Amino acid sequence: MEIDVQRKDLVAAAGDAVVIPLTKSDAPPRALRELDEAVGGLCARVFAAGDFTGKSGEVLSLPVTGIAAKRLVLVGLGDEKNASRESLRAAGGRAAKALARAKAAKAALAVPAIRRIAAEDAAQALAEGLVLGAYRFDKYKSGNDKPTQVERVTLLAPDARQVTGLRRGAAFGRAVAEASNFTRDLSNEPGGACTPEYLASEARKLARSHGLRVTVFGERELAREKMSGILAVGRGSANPPRLIALEYGAAPKRKKNAKSRARPRPTLAFVGKGITFDSGGISIKPAANMDEMKHDMSGGAAVLGAMRALAELKLPVHAVGIVAAAQNMPDGNAYVPGDVITSARGKTIEVLNTDAEGRIVLSDALHHATSYEPDAIVDLATLTGACLVALGDACCAVLGNDEKLADKVRAAGDSTFERAWPLPLWDEHKNAIKGTFGDIVNTGGRNAGVSTAAAFLSHFVGDTPWAHLDIAGVAWTTKETPYYVKGATGFGVRLLVELARNWK
Ligand code: BES
Ligand code: MN
Ligand code: ZN
Repeated sequence: MEIDVQRKDLVAAAGDAVVIPLTKSDAPPRALRELDEAVGGLCARVFAAGDFTGKSGEVLSLPVTGIAAKRLVLVGLGDEKNASRESLRAAGGRAAKALARAKAAKAALAVPAIRRIAAEDAAQALAEGLVLGAYRFDKYKSGNDKPTQVERVTLLAPDARQVTGLRRGAAFGRAVAEASNFTRDLSNEPGGACTPEYLASEARKLARSHGLRVTVFGERELAREKMSGILAVGRGSANPPRLIALEYGAAPKRKKNAKSRARPRPTLAFVGKGITFDSGGISIKPAANMDEMKHDMSGGAAVLGAMRALAELKLPVHAVGIVAAAQNMPDGNAYVPGDVITSARGKTIEVLNTDAEGRIVLSDALHHATSYEPDAIVDLATLTGACLVALGDACCAVLGNDEKLADKVRAAGDSTFERAWPLPLWDEHKNAIKGTFGDIVNTGGRNAGVSTAAAFLSHFVGDTPWAHLDIAGVAWTTKETPYYVKGATGFGVRLLVELARNWK
């Protein structure tokens, strides 16, 4: 979707539709008088009849004559005092869905002036909502019931002085949301097509199109690097595992005794779980909803999406994105409960349950991340069903070894509405995974499942500041929401980009 910005003129705005987001106090707004005269007082009648009041969630789509556009779409923003970047994002999402329903390929949208929200932030949130809301995954639908693509939305600036800020915000929001949609495409792709090598080839394509450096370890390189965790999990599959590393930006020069006050560019390592299908392996899962386990690579997909956005936005960081990709299958050759694996770091892992595979592939990927000597490691993983039980679908869990980093993650989550909520990682949780036949076991049982999984991961990061995001509850949605449809959400891309943007 293209998004551009122009000076506001509702009557002259051409295209298939004009979208007007309105708060409750706006309706009926004086600002619409000129437009309303042109459409013969339709808005006044609609407000008077109570068909539209500006309540949050309301969408009214009206064919009109008398203005350049063919249709008017009113979108409710609720009370102005509750308006937020998230309510603008939701309005953008609802607008995109209404435009697609009305087969409107080209539209204009009047940016609402909300006192507490800077024009640039408002444009970013609206652009994100529009692009995320227009997303469909219909490549496997045959026939001609495919909805219209919304091709271009022109944001109408309430004030000529805001055009530059709106342009900057819209470009940023669009880039981040397109990257999120790329992540959603990868997560929605079935396991039969999205294999570890498929993820690797997508990473190579990104590297080519966005000027990133890419390294892919196949089985030979994984063996050379002693990454027996990734190899063990992938061994039951006909689709062999991969470790994918994408690098963006130049590594900062580390001068030993430089007195320079200038802060060097940070090195950030993003690590993602990339299980392209999780059957559970020999500890096989029940049949119900197993199809959803095609999205068990959502952490890895978010890492790829974030790398794409960083490159597109040219953010001043050095970033490494690492994806541990494997398919977890039962097979005559598969790893089995009781196996003891020696990870690349040297720690031995006693396998109690082959369905706790994410932490095993991450052990090698996190260790690999430390070799870049990053300022921080952030991993994202659809790691535990326990996270869903604990936190539902409103936020991911954040755990780790560094309060300051966890706070940064929370702040980035709050401002992008990809929220993260802390859970503890204490010695009690580390004690719960002590091994009998190996150093550590790969499950601490049902209780505190999010924390014991994080305790397992903590063995592989050394003293690097590290945050673990368990995204099992948020990477996938079974219900339609203002800017999502059923399926993958792309969770993590907005958060990671915001973290990099605000890094100090
Ligand atoms: N991929 C699953 C976790 C998951 C469940 C993600 C539901 C998204 C939605 C993970 O590999 C898994 O199977 N975890 C087990 C761990 C257990 C065996 C210790 C779980 O949560 O049951
Ligand atoms: Mn599993
Ligand atoms: Zn899994």
